[in-house]
Amino acid sequence: MIGELDADAVVGYFRGKSILITGSTGFLGKVLVEKILRVQPDVKKLFLLIRAADIESAKHRVATEVTGREIFQVLKQKHGDKFDDFIQEKVCPLAGDIVYKNLGLDNAKLTELSKEIDIIVNGAATTNFYERYDVTFDTNVMGAKHICEFTKRCNKLKMLLHVSTAYVAGEQEGILPEKPFLLGETLREGAHLDIESELNLIKEARKEVKANCSSERVEKRTMKELGLKRAREFGWPNTYVFTKAMGEMLLGHLRGDLPTVIIRPSIEQLTSILNEPLPGWMEGIRTIDSFIIGSAKQALSIFLVDLNLIMDVRYDGVAIAAHSEDQAAQSIYHVTSSLRNPAPYAVLVDSGHRYFLHNPPRFEENGEPVRLSRMCFFQTLPRFRAYMAVKFRLPLEILRLRNIAMLGAFSRRYGDLSRKYRYVMHMAELYAPYALFKGWAALMKANKQQGKSRGYDFGFDPKSIDWDKYFYSVHIPGVIKYLCD
Ligand SMILES: NC(=O)c1ccc[n+]([C@@H]2O[C@H](COP(=O)([O-])OP(=O)(O)OC[C@H]3O[C@@H](n4cnc5c(N)ncnc54)[C@H](OP(=O)(O)O)[C@@H]3O)[C@@H](O)[C@H]2O)c1
Repeated sequence: MIGELDADAVVGYFRGKSILITGSTGFLGKVLVEKILRVQPDVKKLFLLIRAADIESAKHRVATEVTGREIFQVLKQKHGDKFDDFIQEKVCPLAGDIVYKNLGLDNAKLTELSKEIDIIVNGAATTNFYERYDVTFDTNVMGAKHICEFTKRCNKLKMLLHVSTAYVAGEQEGILPEKPFLLGETLREGAHLDIESELNLIKEARKEVKANCSSERVEKRTMKELGLKRAREFGWPNTYVFTKAMGEMLLGHLRGDLPTVIIRPSIEQLTSILNEPLPGWMEGIRTIDSFIIGSAKQALSIFLVDLNLIMDVRYDGVAIAAHSEDQAAQSIYHVTSSLRNPAPYAVLVDSGHRYFLHNPPRFEENGEPVRLSRMCFFQTLPRFRAYMAVKFRLPLEILRLRNIAMLGAFSRRYGDLSRKYRYVMHMAELYAPYALFKGWAALMKANKQQGKSRGYDFGFDPKSIDWDKYFYSVHIPGVIKYLCD
């Protein structure tokens, strides 16, 4: 183990190593691939497992969805004309899928990889909170199992790094310990979780909907609702974090003496890149970004969040990977900022208001900026529900009665508005555990010094970040540039 978080040691750690990465087409995956290639061009090889029908499609996906993305700009400038050759030499796409045993790879490939791989980073996941239970289970639970089985075949493996989420803790309050989940553990007292039974339940449910000749839409809804029901039964707020917790359990149970590191970034509140390679760059809209986009478009008047609560916004798995080298045991790291440098939501809201005052998002016909309306924040779900009931549910009910009286003249309008209302309420219920989260995920074990040297910033210590400056100058402009149409 590298005792201190020394950026030179982090960089040196990857020299000559072959790394298998899953999830490289995702947000975190491409940040990781770019960073390794940039800070350590002497890495031996990055094998990227890509969901694709064949190797040509896998290559195409890497070229368009990974190395072709804006975040590789700095690396492209660094290598100039030789960029494509560099990528060709270092990056090896593989067509595979973690839902299958042996990751869907053939025997020859498996044998070749098992002799070659030093490190495995499993970042692949189904990250949608409200996805079908079978789909999420296959990726987040069975996928973790298949990765673990493959890892055991790799005879020179130094580490399996599994990316989980800080929200496997559910809706716990206070400081969340970096503690492993034991097989069968749940967040509800007295309940016992049997992963095998969950798998059987999924198979049965699927059989039943098929037997009933249900439409695809009904099947999808049934499987989505099953996931949510099972998650809540065991104390987790949604299918995603429930299955991520089960993935951790299986990994802990099956790993034997594999050196395993589980990192738990804070979900949904991962924000844009702070410094390098591209300040403000990001992909995919997170909860807090919908607030910024709503402000930019002046299309949001209410938001469910407690402004006094702390959000978590920082992550650097590269540094963690190197820091944990050669530990035979299982290590768990929370990769978050909340305890070390709290960033209350109020800071984001104030920075946002100031930003849009200085950079008006819209103008009147006479060229004057449109006056910014202050958003209304709800700090609890019951208050939000009460507001929605008075402001929207009640008028909807009146519309329903008028529709009956007018023999269906407003059917379409009523149908439209009710669908929108149900959607907003569903999203609020789904995201409330995050917007109102009262847990403090502390990065306890790792060294808390800033890992900066030779010009590479591992951004390991959130203490150094001025949140207001970051939101005002980096994150909000990033959201406007990369996420707003
Ligand atoms: N972003 C966050 O806020 C956050 C916070 C905490 C934890 N995490 C964790 O960090 C990891 C990466 O998150 P992300 O936000 O980067 O996710 P993402 O953008 O949704 O990307 C998910 C990645 O997983 C891949 N994948 C999904 N199913 C797969 C399968 N069966 N086989 C192989 N690859 C598969 C996807 O490939 P396709 O392109 O083929 O779909 C994609 O590359 C996940 O484990 C997530 O749980 C993320």
